[in-house]
Amino acid sequence: GLALSGTALAQGYPTKPVTVVVPFSAGGPTDTVARLLAEVMSQDLGQQVVVQNVGGAGGTLGAGQVATAPNDGYTLLLHHIGMSTAPTLYRSLPYDPAKDFAPIGLITSVPMTLVARKDFEPTTLAELMDYIKANGENVTYAHAGIGSASQLCGMLLMDALDTQMTTVPYQGAGPAMTDIIGGQIDMICDQTTNTTSQIKAGEVKAYAVTSQNRLDALPDVPTTKEGGLGLEIGVWHGLYAPAGTDPAIIERLEKSLQVALANETVISRFAELGTYPVTAEEATPDALAQTLASQTELWRAVIEAAGVYAD
Ligand code: MLT
Repeated sequence: GLALSGTALAQGYPTKPVTVVVPFSAGGPTDTVARLLAEVMSQDLGQQVVVQNVGGAGGTLGAGQVATAPNDGYTLLLHHIGMSTAPTLYRSLPYDPAKDFAPIGLITSVPMTLVARKDFEPTTLAELMDYIKANGENVTYAHAGIGSASQLCGMLLMDALDTQMTTVPYQGAGPAMTDIIGGQIDMICDQTTNTTSQIKAGEVKAYAVTSQNRLDALPDVPTTKEGGLGLEIGVWHGLYAPAGTDPAIIERLEKSLQVALANETVISRFAELGTYPVTAEEATPDALAQTLASQTELWRAVIEAAGVYAD
């Protein structure tokens, strides 16, 4: 029978297009995940799910906009591990990820790859580490701002090597990748959703993946562990609404997210890009809230030890 839960507002929701804010430039890893989901959710919801890219400040600008958006279910946020690092990186963050959002569900956890411009001198991970230690600030490292996954991975890499590189911020890893392919920038640690096709096309040189095991999508790329670098990171992604959104709307969005994550096209495209959707049990508000809380604590300790802050 018809689900009688929820208020009149929720009945018939959505009655107009739904905006999903991606807090990084178009063409990057976060945008890639969002557009794959938006396609299926549009069909499921019967309304257009529109991706809006709001770059800046490592993802905190876009996240902050959704934190203060109307909680009517028509403005959502698709963000990643940066939701858990920003509270420590930004000592005056204008929003509280744990209080200003209504979690909808986890989406996927994406491995990262250490890649460089294709004519960069080092060829193996061991050579790359030696090269960075020997050349320090003469090596340029691209990232998508303090609060991005690429910045977090770079911070961990420089910490592991006890060496500072020259870091160059972008509004997203999409434009950063353009400059690496163009040879203007030496390297980046970026998600497989953005690097897999470039690696296969020979447009960038790959040194390692940050996953526990090698990826089916990139079987020839060793893990950081194989190369003696203790740097494992999975960029988990979640979908959020502003706090106070009607629970019946959250439930409708949770179901639509689960439909999208069970979609064959999404599953096979994720697999080509080195990742896979979370289970239906993880695509839930509780699972996302728990991941956000535990990751925030985990990264607080790591970031404070590294002493890297945005403000
Ligand atoms: C990052 O955190 O590096 C972002 O994912 C970059 C992006 O999505 O453009």
